[in-house]
Amino acid sequence: MKPISRRSALTLGGLGLAGTVVGGAGLLWWSSGALTQPPVGDEFAEPALLRSAQGKLQVHLTAASGPVTIGGRSATALSYNGSIPGPTLHLNAGDLLAVSLVNGLGAATNLHTHGLQVSPEGNADNPFVMVAPGGSFDYTIQLPASHPPGLFWYHPHHHGAVADQVFGGLYGAIIVDDPEPLEVSRERVLVISDITLDSLGGIAAVSPMDRMLGREGELVLVNGQLNPRLNARPGERERWRVVNACVSRYLPLRLDGQSLHLRGMDSARFPTPEAVDEVLLAPGNRADLLVTMAAGTAVLQAVAYDRGGVSGMMGGLSLPSLTAGNRTSLATLSVAGSAAASTPDVTAVAAPRDLRDESVSAERELIFAMGEGGGMGSGSGMMMSFTINGQAFDAQRVDAAVSAGNIEEWTLRNTSPMDHPVHLHVWPMQVIEVNGTAMTSVIQQDVVNVPANGQVTVRIAFEGITGRTVYHCHILDHEDLGMMGVIEVS
Ligand code: CU
Ligand code: CU
Ligand code: CU
Repeated sequence: MKPISRRSALTLGGLGLAGTVVGGAGLLWWSSGALTQPPVGDEFAEPALLRSAQGKLQVHLTAASGPVTIGGRSATALSYNGSIPGPTLHLNAGDLLAVSLVNGLGAATNLHTHGLQVSPEGNADNPFVMVAPGGSFDYTIQLPASHPPGLFWYHPHHHGAVADQVFGGLYGAIIVDDPEPLEVSRERVLVISDITLDSLGGIAAVSPMDRMLGREGELVLVNGQLNPRLNARPGERERWRVVNACVSRYLPLRLDGQSLHLRGMDSARFPTPEAVDEVLLAPGNRADLLVTMAAGTAVLQAVAYDRGGVSGMMGGLSLPSLTAGNRTSLATLSVAGSAAASTPDVTAVAAPRDLRDESVSAERELIFAMGEGGGMGSGSGMMMSFTINGQAFDAQRVDAAVSAGNIEEWTLRNTSPMDHPVHLHVWPMQVIEVNGTAMTSVIQQDVVNVPANGQVTVRIAFEGITGRTVYHCHILDHEDLGMMGVIEVS
């Protein structure tokens, strides 16, 4: 283990006995502030994998607070079934996903299957369901036979509690398998999340300011681990499916020294994988990455990202992700041994549909704004409002009534000094233009970042599925503070 730095020793001094109460010397770094360079940790591990059989996956998920392992140490946090992340759900297009959700929390919760193109109604992917403490709910989510393959994820979506519950540890991955397997040496799922633990290993308190900026955790975890170790041989090609499950933290990911190809984002695939040095995942985004192994040691890092701030209060400077020169080590890859036989190139897939070639039946503008005087300041006196088109979320109101079958063009305009990653449930968005610059290829995502004081144009095909659901900022604190609207497609 890395010796305690002078800085963390000083911090501990300030905390008096906190470090010794729990006993383990290994707990010490919980009190040391943002931990950007954790020592290389345990061998990389993945959550339990639950696979569908005969077209069905029946899952029991209990959301509860209790003992969990985080970064190899004992903590008390929230989890599904006692592990962070919860189990990975492995499905095929056409499957039925049945989830019995038991709410062992002290607050209401529910479940959202982020990115799945399924019904948002009844007991499917319905964000308006509320499961009371001690209650349970049986979700039945039917994937259409035409459902695209890809990486998706699940997390709570009960308005007002989403950030707390995701930050606390409630999330897990969903894979919809490719119809034809990729030629790779190994597939891995990397669920990246962040959390702040107090000196006793509990979830640290969050201030009104943290909520306004969007909280960022001091520990950035991969599958609940701190800087896990991965091993591979030169020449091997691995597929890394990566989800950004952080409440607010943007992840510009790099794996310097290795050859990275991006096969797709969210549920979309590029016709052929694109060589990349860096991939930006806003909260909620996923990447399908191919890593061709070169001998040596490489560190998967999140580099700094400026997502803005609230001027005159704290600026963006207080965000851990923006510390100058900050590079957070997420995982350490060792490539050694005899060279593997080379793997054939990944088969190209058909070019995706391009909504730029199709006619638009309606246009809409959504203005994402922050203003004075939100209603949730709880005495802070400085909480701001978070609105879309001037209104905070109201589950009873329909903000966007859309005719089924239409293609719409939405202008997402951000009048605030912070980025907002905009997520629309069920129907993916094709990015047409960002700050006036037209896209040169088909970029389809279910979370689209709208830069501070900027605007993005997207097109959406409201086909196949009808129902009432939501769109919102995926900085989940902003969603909880009201930056969410209701859409009804009928
Ligand atoms: Cu989500
Ligand atoms: Cu936001
Ligand atoms: Cu949502």
